[in-house]
Amino acid sequence: MPRVLVVDDDLLIRRFLHDALEVGGYDVVSAASGAEAATILERDGRLDLVITDYSMPGVTGIEVIRCAQNIDPTLPCIIVTAFHDLDLAMRGMQAGAVGFIPKPFKSDHLLTVAGRALERRQMSLETTRLSLLLPMLERFTMLLANTLESKDCATQRHAERLVEHAETVARALDLDDDTRFSVRVGACLHDIGKVGVPEELLRKAGRLTPAEREMMQLHPEIGAAILEDIDTWEDVRLIVRHHHEHWNGGGYPLGLAGESIPLGARIVSVVDAFDVMTQGRPYAAARPLGSVVEELVRERGEQFDPDVVDAFLSTLGVNGQYHEVVDASSELDLIARRAGVPRNSLDTVAGIAR
Ligand SMILES: [Fe+2]
Ligand SMILES: [Fe+2]
Repeated sequence: MPRVLVVDDDLLIRRFLHDALEVGGYDVVSAASGAEAATILERDGRLDLVITDYSMPGVTGIEVIRCAQNIDPTLPCIIVTAFHDLDLAMRGMQAGAVGFIPKPFKSDHLLTVAGRALERRQMSLETTRLSLLLPMLERFTMLLANTLESKDCATQRHAERLVEHAETVARALDLDDDTRFSVRVGACLHDIGKVGVPEELLRKAGRLTPAEREMMQLHPEIGAAILEDIDTWEDVRLIVRHHHEHWNGGGYPLGLAGESIPLGARIVSVVDAFDVMTQGRPYAAARPLGSVVEELVRERGEQFDPDVVDAFLSTLGVNGQYHEVVDASSELDLIARRAGVPRNSLDTVAGIAR
């Protein structure tokens, strides 16, 4: 039950406010003066709303509002004024009141204004709570991804690097905050379904047999099923489910093509392949950066969304003339530093993200 402090020096109005609010489902505390209200505000830490008369002898309604705002800036205050005193109502709003009620008023008007003030407070509290919770949630998600990666020594810090690259690409594509959040969490958890793949398969150095490949290729669906019950993470779930789809329709699990593949999944697909190729895997050694860039360019419009490849390469400082850049070794040093990868001189078999 919301707790409201009613402040009015007029006994009749105070009683009316008290009774109307009580009938409306509030727990009401009354004060007959501004001074009494100030004492209650200091002692009672459970108030959700203050409704105060404007003109009272001694401590005025404006001072009551200031006192309430000092103690708890989120505590909504409503000022009650005589009907013709709109200037006074404005002064109340300037002091921090979120609404005013002109006298004479009816109880349903009072309850409407009070209800709105409480709703707005609830929303601002939720926003604050969420803004504190989200960074914690992201850290926890990373912790979970790191724990899963400990099954597979070759993919250590894979999720962490992917989150960084995916965020950079999402920014380059000018995606909004909410979408970038989903992209980061999706990048972090893209391989969560590998929890259902036997360890010896994850660590296998040689080629997978067709049966093993089939089992490995279940991981996007397993991952999506794990996230099934988190209603607000539908975008994250789609990234996890479709991060192995190919732009040309040749990927899995559904063989989606082009823009029917969720954008977040297209981003993760590019940065995942980049990380796998630059870092190496038990089944494929790390490749030199030039060859990785060439591979991304070669698969631009085939395996990968061309716009995502362009955005990613531009964040690495590769623009347009891919082959010139790939051939210029000083440029590659710069790109390697930007990408945070070693400039490996090995030239080996192609590594493809499993
Ligand atoms: Fe994967
Ligand atoms: Fe991956």
